[in-house]
Amino acid sequence: MPKINLKLLKKQAQREINRAGDLKFLNEIFKKYLGKRGELTLVLRSLERMPKAKRAKVGKEANELKTFLREKFEQKKFSFAKATEDKEEWIDVTRPGKKLVVGHLHPLTQVKRKVEEIFQAMGFSVVEGPEAENEWYNFDALNIPKDHPARDMWDTFYLKDGLLLRTHTTPVDARYMEKNNPPLRIITIGRCFRHEATDASHESNFYQIDGLMAGKDISVANFKAIIQEFFQRFFEKPVEIRMRPSYFPFTEPSFEVDMTCLVCGGKGCSACQQTGWMEMMGAGMMHPNVFKNSGLNPKNWQGFAFGMGLDRLTMMKYKINDIRLLYSGDLRFLKQF
Ligand code: DAH
Repeated sequence: MPKINLKLLKKQAQREINRAGDLKFLNEIFKKYLGKRGELTLVLRSLERMPKAKRAKVGKEANELKTFLREKFEQKKFSFAKATEDKEEWIDVTRPGKKLVVGHLHPLTQVKRKVEEIFQAMGFSVVEGPEAENEWYNFDALNIPKDHPARDMWDTFYLKDGLLLRTHTTPVDARYMEKNNPPLRIITIGRCFRHEATDASHESNFYQIDGLMAGKDISVANFKAIIQEFFQRFFEKPVEIRMRPSYFPFTEPSFEVDMTCLVCGGKGCSACQQTGWMEMMGAGMMHPNVFKNSGLNPKNWQGFAFGMGLDRLTMMKYKINDIRLLYSGDLRFLKQF
């Protein structure tokens, strides 16, 4: 029987228990002293082989130590349990609450609704047409016959069975006039597709706003008044518009519409190439052939039509410099609106 110094054993065990950092380690220490082959267990087992006089003294001391150490272990175990409990259960009710992140509408949707709201207030109806369109409505009905070079103005994605992805929203005007007689006021906002290389201002998928107002004596003056009013309401700033001659097969005369540059207020800056004007849309007086193709007599009716990019409008409103951001799905971008 090796000589065992119980006082030393007590000191050592106590120190190790104190140092134990977790329950697993504490159990190891328990095993080391009080397990089946633990140091203290061995002492207790050796008692019966001891001379009587020594046995009484060592026995008392060893049993006291056993009780003492068990208690220490229990205390330490309890402190671990309490620490985890504190961590999990403790709630500081005075802390400010976590803000819930609520989703919101995409900037294009917000602008689409705003545009619809403004035109509706001016008596326009919002109408829709198919994204997979046929050649008739996308081209022929709009006075762009097959083999006409003007078809080159739109790089088209062709589908099967005479269908294509509409290259503009103007076909909706033709569809509407076929079923509805003037006087009429409509706008349509929807997706368009063009087979072209993408860059900061071009996407193969984009949104276009098309508008049409037709009646007995609708003139360019009506167009100018309505579009100027629209821009003022949309940008919430006084603006002027001007028209330059242009060409579209479905309008005659056709024009390109510019608006006072919002960056410099018309004085001239780098955003407007020092002109003071921003190019906003294509427009014109509806071509007689388009009325004819829709079953209306061009001698009875006249009207204006216009088309502009919803993306462009959104980019100007929020000063976004790359159209691709609008289709990136990047939350860092979208969360700003
Ligand atoms: N659809 C034309 C385009 O995509 C834009 C346009 C021009 C629409 C004149 C119109 C219009 O309704 O009258 O380039």
